[in-house]
Order: sequence, then C-alpha cells, then structure tokens
Amino acid sequence: MKSILDYETVALNDKEDAIEIIDQTLLPGRTEIISLHTGKEIWDAIYLLQVRGAPAIGVTAGFGLYLLMKHSTAASYDEFMKELKEKSDYLNSSRPTAVNLSWALNRMESHIKKYYDENLKKDGESSFDAARDALIKELREESERIKAEDIDVCRKIGEYGLELIKDGDGILTHCNAGQLATCKYGTATSPMYLAHEKGYKIKVYCDETRPLLQGARLTAYELHSAGIDTTLLCDNMSGSLMKSGAINAIFVGCDRVAANGDAANKIGTSVVATVAKRYNIPFYVCAPTSTIDIRTATGSDINIEQRKPEEVTEMWYKERMAPEGVKVYNPAFDVTDNDLITGIVTEYGVLRAPFDVAIKELFEKKK
Ligand code: MRU
Repeated sequence: MKSILDYETVALNDKEDAIEIIDQTLLPGRTEIISLHTGKEIWDAIYLLQVRGAPAIGVTAGFGLYLLMKHSTAASYDEFMKELKEKSDYLNSSRPTAVNLSWALNRMESHIKKYYDENLKKDGESSFDAARDALIKELREESERIKAEDIDVCRKIGEYGLELIKDGDGILTHCNAGQLATCKYGTATSPMYLAHEKGYKIKVYCDETRPLLQGARLTAYELHSAGIDTTLLCDNMSGSLMKSGAINAIFVGCDRVAANGDAANKIGTSVVATVAKRYNIPFYVCAPTSTIDIRTATGSDINIEQRKPEEVTEMWYKERMAPEGVKVYNPAFDVTDNDLITGIVTEYGVLRAPFDVAIKELFEKKK
C-alpha cells in the first residue's frame, strides 16, 4: 500500500498548467491531491495551510510564479518584469513569517533579470516574442531547480544532524518540519529518517502542536508510517517528559532565522527551548540557508503571523469550547532567543554560538 511518504508534497503539472499538492488540512484521515491553477487558488492554498512548512511554501511560490507568467502576453521586457513583480507581490502576501516564500520569489526574479542581461538584452527588442518565450522557460527551470535543491539540502541537513544523534536516543520535535513541509526528508526529521535507515533504535516524541495540530496530524503520521518508534504528546506534556530523562535531544525546524541566530518557528517552540535549557538538553534548529534572513537583524524584527480566533475556540471540537466573545491570542509562531539554541543545522554544517559571527561567515563563504 502507498505510504504518505510516497506522495510528492508539491509537484508541477506543466501540461495541465497546475501545481499539485497534498491537501494537508485533510491529513491524516484523507489523502487528496488537489490542483491549483489560478493565483487565487495558490494564494488560498498557502494561507489555508493546504500546503505549509517554510520550504514547501517556497517551492509552491516558485511554481506559482512560473504558471502565472506562462501565458504572459507582455510586449516588452519592462512590461514582463512589471507583470512578474505584481504576481510575485501577490503570492508573497499569502503568509508573512516564513522567509522561504519571499526568498523563492526574489530568486526567480533575480534569475530572470540576470538571464535577460546576459543573454537577451543585446538582441534589442524589435519583437519581444522569442525573448518572452525564453524567459518563461527560464522561470520553469528555476522553479524546478528550487525544488531539486530543497531535496538535496534536506538530505545534507540530515547527514549533519545524524552526527548529533546516538543509537537509542529519545528525540523531541515540535510542529511538522518533516517531508510534508519540504519536498523530501524534511529538515528536523531528516536526521531521524537517516538514523532509522542506519538501524538506530530512536524514539521520537511529537508535540501535538496546538492549535492546528501539525505534530499530531502530520509529524506523528509520517514518522509512524516510516516505521519509526513514535509517541504523541500534548504540548503541555513536554516539560514532564524532559524532566523524566526520556529526551536526549530536540530537533525543530524554523521559518526564519535572523542574522543574530534568533529563530522563528511554530508557536510553542520557544517554550520547549526554555525548558530544554533547564534540563540541559541540546536544542537544535534545522535550517536550510534559504531560511536564514541576514537582512533581519534580530527576532524582534520578524513579522509574526496572527491567525483567526476560531482556530483556538472551535476548529477541532464538535461544539465551541470557549465562551462567546472571549478574546483570543493566536500567533502562529514565536521566536526562540539565540542563547537557547545549541546549534543551527544547515546544509553546510552545524553553526554554533556566537551565531551572528557564524552566520556572517557562512554567508560570506557562500558568496
Ligand atoms: O504554520 P506552518 O504549519 O506552516 O508552520 C510550520 C513550521 O513552523 C515548521 O516548523 C517550519 O516551517 C519549518 S518546515 C521545514
């Protein structure tokens, strides 16, 4: 029988002018692939978390921008770029915190500018038709590269993360930074999959992750499907679990790492990190460099998405579970201060404090 891990989180169906995603709001009960054609459908799928997780959002945005430009009739380069910018800004407005969204869109735009300058500009613009076709082809290829690189980067994060795991370890994770949040392996789950492949007997504990239950519905589902020893707990149980000695390491994903190493991830992550410090448990943030935003100085500069009160008061219940009219606090993410983080696991290796220096050096080397 096909397992959830055999499905592609995000795929381009070029023939049908569509992005195909697993509708993650229906998991684990139903596995439904839905097709997104229009800008509004793509925007809604990201906003509604039908596709979610920082890297998967980035890949969807890349494919989205290509599809929205595929039938462009722009008559000049300037017109083409204006249209591209408008579509990009629209997709970028779907969610504010995960930097991979703007990272992917900016990367698509920069690639097109560079390609045009290096290959097409000299030809002049008597007719823009051939140039437009070439640019559209480049958009498709760049979006496919973003997806292929995501798989490669997650695998590398897994290899570096594996060095931090011992046979028999108990590992705690929060939210879903798994295959469903990326195109394969996940970020925080990648070391777990590789440890399992190697025959390590690890035990993974998944916080259910209120209010949208990504831990229960997605992480527990994919790890359990992979045959990993998986235990689900409510968010408020992780403190007692850490105190019991069952946890040797914590791996989480993230949506944006600031230049000083502060890391925004799913709401509740900073609580886990704070308690982990109390019990001397190493706390690792797994982050592709596409999630590190050197233009954001500190965690307090990160825009934290606020979501609807209904997600807290009634979404998962047969009937409303809070008094009518009560105020609700529902931020989707929080920021873990860098002094609570033991290491940031990237595709280039594990960064250690002082994180501002380590991040600066990494980006200088990458250049
Ligand atoms: O609101 P979500 O489900 O998109 O939040 C996802 C997370 O917080 C993940 O941990 C993060 O995006 C990293 S995914 C590799």
